[in-house]
Amino acid sequence: MVSKILVSTIVTASLMMAVAPAQAQQSSSSCIAPTTWFPHNQTPEQNSAGFPANPNNCDFHQWAWNAFLWLTQDVKGEARFESMPANGIETKPGVLDALIGRSGKARTLDIINQAGPDGIMVDLQGHPVYYAIHSDSTFGDFIKTNDLFDPAKLRKFDPKESFPVGALTLKAAWKVVVPGEDVSTFYTRKAQIALLTTKNGKIVLSGKTKTVEVALVGFHVAGTVANHPEMIWATFEHLQNVPDLPKPMNEMQPNDVVSDKNWTFYKAGTPFKDCNINSAGAGALKLDEATQTLSPVTDVCRMIPFGGGSTNNVANIKLLNDSVHTQLKGVWNNYFEVGAIWFSANNGLKPNCTFQPGSQQCGPNPGESILTGSTQLSNTTIETFTQSQSVQDNCFACHNTVQVISPNETAPSLPGLNVDISHVLINEYFAAASKFRENAGAQVKAKPEVKPKAEH
Ligand code: HEC
Repeated sequence: MVSKILVSTIVTASLMMAVAPAQAQQSSSSCIAPTTWFPHNQTPEQNSAGFPANPNNCDFHQWAWNAFLWLTQDVKGEARFESMPANGIETKPGVLDALIGRSGKARTLDIINQAGPDGIMVDLQGHPVYYAIHSDSTFGDFIKTNDLFDPAKLRKFDPKESFPVGALTLKAAWKVVVPGEDVSTFYTRKAQIALLTTKNGKIVLSGKTKTVEVALVGFHVAGTVANHPEMIWATFEHLQNVPDLPKPMNEMQPNDVVSDKNWTFYKAGTPFKDCNINSAGAGALKLDEATQTLSPVTDVCRMIPFGGGSTNNVANIKLLNDSVHTQLKGVWNNYFEVGAIWFSANNGLKPNCTFQPGSQQCGPNPGESILTGSTQLSNTTIETFTQSQSVQDNCFACHNTVQVISPNETAPSLPGLNVDISHVLINEYFAAASKFRENAGAQVKAKPEVKPKAEH
């Protein structure tokens, strides 16, 4: 923590002499992981409150890697993020359950639908990739203190108030381990997974569960730091997940082979046109209920390596990844930062904004995007199917502050609020708001589904 500020302060100070402060960019060769982060059991907590007031690109990526290392540190036999302290938040009908303080072990892995186009990512053995959401106590306490479990209170909440510095929200992607599979390079654990059935042609949870071994394949970290209430949105993956496209996306021909190697989620020789096919969204996914396997499987390719952005951005991520990888030991050394995205201006979060490139509202200057860093960032295991869809190809495309139209008649829409940046809050709001009506006698047939927020 201390060294992180020191490193960035020294570099910023020396660079400011040479260039205008507004353009201060850390020279890429210095985007490294401080030696004080290692060994992994000594990585200090990321310094969110002490985040530099005039940060450079590398500071954001360092914060992201620091947070990843801290969150994955072993605490009593499990990664810290799995065991965040319980805050005594109750789950009652009509009350938000933002999954605060739940132990990863206590909760069944029961999210298989990806955000956006109802996609289910099927691994090469036919199992869906499962997702779990976690939040830290700063996030949880903020919701509790402001009584945001209560849909009516959330609706009337100050639109300009944002999550406090230090709030973290996380999403992990887990692959089911099959007998004989070599998972020596993965972080694995036992988990209860929700089993599947087919209902009206759709793949849904059957209500039954099974305990299996799962391996971590993807991990989102979003957190508020000083002057950045929009949060830094960063994502990590296992090194062997999927191949990058060998050429820029627009130069790929349909039959071009993406890689001649086998990857965890890609069969050697698969052509570009067969990458990232959303069979569930197209209604073509079939379940064999007895074996709990789905077909067809998803061959996954990374459309935008490192989530794009400037050359300096990509160079910094690569340097930092290399620097971590030469110093870190153990399974966590097989994970890498794909990228991170944030705002170019301090304190730029405002209600009712999409923040998308080309969006005239809410940018620093007309026509200028407020997004910077990895501006086309997706995780191939979590946003598999939206990687190249221009309205959904970065975290802020969905995590923004616009009003969320109610997915059903029973719940009122949620106004544009700064806290809408968290989808946990949005999902739970609609679940709770619909329940209130249900309790009051209205008919609710299905759990509402929240559609992604895109600018139309
Ligand atoms: C297509 C829309 C979409 C995109 C793109 C997207 N997300 Fe999300 N995200 C969601 C939704 C919806 C949820 C809520 C959980 C769910 O329904 O799966 C969510 C949940 C999360 C969560 C868990 C908690 C929370 O507060 O919402 C994190 C962390 C997260 N996303 C990070 C990211 C990061 C990092 C990126 C970019 C690499 C990203 N998301 C891109 C829609 C999206």
